[in-house]
Amino acid sequence: MRYLMSIDQGTSSSRCILYDPEGRPAAVAQQAFRQIFPQAGWVEHDPETIWQSQSSVCREAMQRLDLGPEAIAGIGIANQRETTVIWDRQTGKPIYNAIVWQDRRTAGQCARLQAAGWEDRVRAKTGLLLDPYFSATKIRWILDHVDGALDRARQGRLAFGTVDTWLVWKMTRGELHITDVSNASRTLLFNIETLRWDEELLDLFGIPAALLPEVRPSSEYYGLTRSEEIGAGMPIGAVVGDQQASLFGQLCVEPGMAKCTYGTGSFLVMNTGAEKILSKHRLLTTVAWQIGGRVDYALEGSVFVGGAAIQWLRDALHLLGSAADSEMLATSVGDNGGVYFVPAFTGLGAPDWDPDARGAIFGLTRGTTAAHIIRAALESMAFQVDDILRILSEDSGRPVSQLRIDGGAAANQFLARFQSDISGLEVVRPAHLETTALGAAYLAGIATGAWTLDQLADKWRADRSFEGTMPAGVREAHKKQWRKAVESVKGWRG
Ligand code: G3P
Repeated sequence: MRYLMSIDQGTSSSRCILYDPEGRPAAVAQQAFRQIFPQAGWVEHDPETIWQSQSSVCREAMQRLDLGPEAIAGIGIANQRETTVIWDRQTGKPIYNAIVWQDRRTAGQCARLQAAGWEDRVRAKTGLLLDPYFSATKIRWILDHVDGALDRARQGRLAFGTVDTWLVWKMTRGELHITDVSNASRTLLFNIETLRWDEELLDLFGIPAALLPEVRPSSEYYGLTRSEEIGAGMPIGAVVGDQQASLFGQLCVEPGMAKCTYGTGSFLVMNTGAEKILSKHRLLTTVAWQIGGRVDYALEGSVFVGGAAIQWLRDALHLLGSAADSEMLATSVGDNGGVYFVPAFTGLGAPDWDPDARGAIFGLTRGTTAAHIIRAALESMAFQVDDILRILSEDSGRPVSQLRIDGGAAANQFLARFQSDISGLEVVRPAHLETTALGAAYLAGIATGAWTLDQLADKWRADRSFEGTMPAGVREAHKKQWRKAVESVKGWRG
């Protein structure tokens, strides 16, 4: 029997899941790795640690089933997106830590480009906004701050990659310097119409073309692994950004289908098929995936702080012992007691996009308990997703009637029910919650010929469905208070 190896290299951990030929998970291994916070608003990873943790969980998963590389039919890679690595092509050594997608150090450069009137042009080409979230200004920061980097980049001695590119380079011992269209579409350098790196944007950000990887489809045979650290001779068959991977793992393959992943942040993505819809409300237009000649696009709204609000209540305020307790505590009170929590710790993402917003808790009284605050934090996850759902429906002209959910917090029944109540739609949890890994495995399976897209469409199974019962009046009153709270935190940093 041969297995598909799925690599899920996320922001806080590296995971590997081996899937059997029926698409059932057979072995899982996971390792958290170190987050580096050199200054307020900065977030870095050590690229070597990413590789070591990832290769080690891959070996561990294979050992669990006592498998060698010959038992792997194909590898699919799903990765944290936008995070930027630059390394020396000769030595393979990174010249600086990876600058993580959450890092805000380049906010000033983005503001200057906005002030110079560039945003509309950049949006038209990339589907993105001028925000530090994306790779371009992170690349430029490294070139400006590492001695001699700009010259070496111009001479073609350095390579840039998002985490997918870095992993493939390490796996193939530098033989392949590639990325896929979904990851490229998060860099601010990739034209989503022509599906090529864009010269005007490279000039705008001052980035030498010699740094860039070759852009390939998301599902095809790219080459064999050559590194003994992970195991040599395994075919690499898929590369895809993690949120696009989970859209595929949820089998949202028809236009109008949408998923939400509740993780540290929350990512709501809708498949828009062959159509690139430019949002009127600052959602992102992005490439979902390319399979053969077919490219699917998506609309995306990213919430920077979702489950991280519960982590903060647990780790900084010690209001609860584990994130899993949040459900029991939230339902120990009949309602939120008038408490609204806006977790804008790192500013606000879609639809408000305000880097200067900061978090706040509103409506406190002498009767407020920890349970009310915990409930308000869970509700804030749903309110933020609801704000995006509303504009997703407007922008796409397709009201979302069913939302497929995944990610750690999708196990929280209070959250799932509240989401369906507040958004007035059906919320469905799939039987297999590891949709990111599954999506990468599916795409690799298509490349190896294990499955066709049509065969996959039948594989999705619901575990539980939630249908909202909240009266419309209550829902509207809740939303009004929530929006009042959000408006109050805007521009807080001054
Ligand atoms: O855009 C960032 C996203 O890809 C990160 O996902 O799951 O690693 O938090 P995750």
